[in-house]
Amino acid sequence: MKNVYVEHHVDPVVVLTNSRVTEVLLAKQERLVMACGGKGLCATCHCYITQGQDKLSVMTPRERQALQMLADRRPNSRLACQAKVVGEGVKVELPQGRFIDSSGDLEQLIGRRATENILHPIDGAILIEAGKLITRTRVRELNQVDVDVAEMRTMSLTIDSQPKRWMPRM
Ligand code: FES
Repeated sequence: MKNVYVEHHVDPVVVLTNSRVTEVLLAKQERLVMACGGKGLCATCHCYITQGQDKLSVMTPRERQALQMLADRRPNSRLACQAKVVGEGVKVELPQGRFIDSSGDLEQLIGRRATENILHPIDGAILIEAGKLITRTRVRELNQVDVDVAEMRTMSLTIDSQPKRWMPRM
């Protein structure tokens, strides 16, 4: 068993050795969209390891490649669905903002200002900045997100052990 800490939470999460970091975040009821279903193809489980980077499993080529595509990556970035806890002392922080996995996620927010950055589910880019008005026009413009996610999910069904990275059209 290993203790893992999440920023802004006092108590650690106790997980089995080799558990994925996603289990830790879910235990703390953090929002996890997991748009690719945990295949290492998206940004929605991106996290920063603020302590104990060497207490996680070694990064695979796929994870390394996926992280290179993220807009807000840092040297301590990991994908929670790919990183396994192998030692004590890991501390995890999530990027600021809210991931969507379809433009429809924003329908109910039309006419309001974004209370936090709205993030692209595949590359983590900011789609709507915090404080900006969410308009119907802007939500319509984000239809490409739906196409990107559909293509990425199709790819996730056929993914094998080869490192691949699907790229959203910009
Ligand atoms: S859930 Fe998509 S990379 Fe982890």
